[in-house]
Formats: sequence, structure tokens, C-alpha cells
Amino acid sequence: IPPETGLTSFPRLLLVDENGNPVKASQIPVNTQVILSFPYPLSNEPNMLLNLGDSSGRPVEVPPTTVVVPQTGASYEFPGGVGPYKSIVAYSGICQHLGCQMPLMSFYPNASNCQPAATSAGNLKGVIHCLCHGSTYDPYKGGAVVTGPTVRPLPAVVLEWDSSTDELYAVKMIGPVIYGHPGFNTPTNNTINNPIGDLQGGSAAGSVST
Ligand code: FES
Repeated sequence: IPPETGLTSFPRLLLVDENGNPVKASQIPVNTQVILSFPYPLSNEPNMLLNLGDSSGRPVEVPPTTVVVPQTGASYEFPGGVGPYKSIVAYSGICQHLGCQMPLMSFYPNASNCQPAATSAGNLKGVIHCLCHGSTYDPYKGGAVVTGPTVRPLPAVVLEWDSSTDELYAVKMIGPVIYGHPGFNTPTNNTINNPIGDLQGGSAAGSVST
């Protein structure tokens, strides 16, 4: 097992736009490929913020679900979406197959803008797709694997929505255990997110106090 450079606890990160202004949950568009790219929990670990909708572009509630890890048969609980419609989710932008990163990883809300590798897998839509080898993940179901070659779901950023301010916070990540790590609830072993990035180093993403 390679050395780790993780943190001792997950930072609590206020999500801000490119101008540094807090993202307002009720104002973010639905079914956009990536609404916001933000690093978490380390500065070199990109994630994507999505507001999921139906085919008409209406936000849809993303319910809690159990995510199965095909590689191990283990599972973990995804808490569901947040925001006024419980439609806002965030996932790692790093593919769990071989580590390709955004923008090679994107959300494809409609079949019409899916890349060929995704559409050839069955006219998929509403998936996160990796252009490198065609893995697809279901952002409506906790990042579960839709099609390989990945055998690991996409780690999710657990979000909190402050309904009084309409602001969003990243509070921790959940995802599959890889490299045989015994647990995945602290970022000390946050190789759940990006083993490559962790091994290259990286400091805590900007955080605000709890
Ligand atoms: Fe994404 Fe291979 S790295 S499918």
C-alpha cells in the first residue's frame, strides 16, 4: 500500500463560483453538464456539482440509495440530493477505472449529447461518462456503475444545504474502498477519491469553520 497524504478530518467547504461568490442552490441550472467544478477534499481532487432533472428539465428529487461496489460486492449508503428539490448532488471528477479526470469526465443529461461510447452501451442518458474507456456512472443513484470497465462506483461528495442562506457546503466524501483500505469514513485514507492525486500530494481544499 503506498503512503498516504490525506487529512485527519474532512474540511467543511462553502461552494463558491468562479468569482468567489457563494453558489445559491435555488439558482443553479438543471441538467447542465457541470455546474461547478470544485476541489475537495484536497486541492488536487476535482469534483462536479450537478442539479439533476427529468427530460423536461424539471429538477427531480434524488433519493437515498444503497450503492454496490461490483469489485468487492460491498455496499454503502448514499444520502441523496440536497437543495429545495433535493436534486443537487456532487461527485468526484476522477474516473474510478484508471483515473481520467474532468473534463474527460462529464455528465450527459440527454442521449443526444452522449458520446458514442455511452450511446453504444444502450442509448444511455443521464449518466456521467468517461471518455477514456467509456465507463458510465449513474448520478441519480449515488454514482453507481452503469457500464464498465470501471468496477468501482464514483465517489460522492456529501453536501449540506443551508435553507436560510441557500448556500451549499461539502462536508465529506463517501465511496468504494480501494487498495484494500479497511475503512473509508475519514480522509486519512481518502484514496476513495483519487489515489493518483493523493500520492502526488495536495493540500486541503479551502475550508471554512463549522
Ligand atoms: Fe475512465 Fe478508463 S479511466 S473509463
